[in-house]
Amino acid sequence: MKLFDVYPINDINIVKGKGSYVWDDQGQQYLDLYGGHAVISVGHTHPHYVKRVEEQLEKLGFYSNSVKIPLQQELAEKLGNVSGKPDYQLFLCNSGAEANENALKLASFANGRKKVVAFSKSFHGRTSLAVAATDNPNLVAPVNQTENVIFLPFNDEEALQKCFSENGKEISSVIIEGIQGVGGINVADIHFLQLIRELCTESGAIFIADGIQCGYGRTGKFFSHDYAGVDADIYTMAKGMGNGFPVAGIMIAPNIQPRHFMLGTTFGGNHLACAAALAVLEIIESEKLMENAATIGNFISQQLKNIPQLKNVRGRGLMIGFDVPESLKNLRKNLLWNQHIFTGEAKPNVIRLLPSLALRKKDAEQFLDAIEEELSAESLASSTTEKV
Ligand SMILES: Cc1ncc(COP(=O)(O)O)c(C=O)c1O
Repeated sequence: MKLFDVYPINDINIVKGKGSYVWDDQGQQYLDLYGGHAVISVGHTHPHYVKRVEEQLEKLGFYSNSVKIPLQQELAEKLGNVSGKPDYQLFLCNSGAEANENALKLASFANGRKKVVAFSKSFHGRTSLAVAATDNPNLVAPVNQTENVIFLPFNDEEALQKCFSENGKEISSVIIEGIQGVGGINVADIHFLQLIRELCTESGAIFIADGIQCGYGRTGKFFSHDYAGVDADIYTMAKGMGNGFPVAGIMIAPNIQPRHFMLGTTFGGNHLACAAALAVLEIIESEKLMENAATIGNFISQQLKNIPQLKNVRGRGLMIGFDVPESLKNLRKNLLWNQHIFTGEAKPNVIRLLPSLALRKKDAEQFLDAIEEELSAESLASSTTEKV
């Protein structure tokens, strides 16, 4: 059987990882500033993570949500404390799309309404309503098309106000990434998030904070939305939550009431997933990784801002993006193949950095030296071409 060919892939077989480094089957070492798409939060094969997952697997890997799973309560308590939202409720599932799907559905159950407000360049996942709220027609199959989603320009307060004054009582939820990831590292304005909070409260709509890529401590606060100093009604989480183990969830404000069968899942919140998620939070807390993400992230951003060829360096903490001029469009490939550094991309010509929150200063310096080397090789090549 062949694999269904949906991914453009690099011809590299990663077989080992440790901290912020991975190795391929030829023994070549790479600095991982991509984290398999923002997934590696505490570093590859962290010893505490490996031990906790191994120990759990030896006891019990899975049993379903038809019995008590005390590890889920332990995880809810830890997550409440680390995120600073102890009064929220936790529902566990398996992936980012599933988290957003559940959030949108729960909002609709809660207020009985149908319309969802989403924003230009958003990405919320590939399943039914999550993909309908994603601003990329290539990903939306005819069966996903719905008139229930209203797209507005990102950070446009006037458009948001107008939409609420026209449709206020029909809007079930507003879903927004605190920093758009796939869209190219676009930071939601603090005042824009505050306005969403205000309009949702006034009209009875639910504010859904998609924290799947920008959450879980990556930006120096637990959710990047926290920079606005307001609470969302539902936060969605995945990626960094299990450091590679598929686990996701939604955190739900205390005023939203559960009822049996409203949400559900077979695998979500299983014993192994909870052990992985607990290990991640324990490491984030004991190694002060949110503080590290802020410090090392600021260091990288400041240094990148000093490089004249790179434009519009943006983001928060260890979620960083910058524009690369068309003349340097191979920079990302060159970083990979010449310097052995993984970075992420977004179209057109945006480089995204989404490393582990445990990235050390010397790893950051390795990246900055590599960028300088690539840029000087590039300018040497272009000055030689000019002479010819
Ligand atoms: C902001 C955001 N929301 C949702 C998703 C979907 O997550 P998953 O691929 O786990 O379904 C992603 C994935 O990239 C994302 O970046």
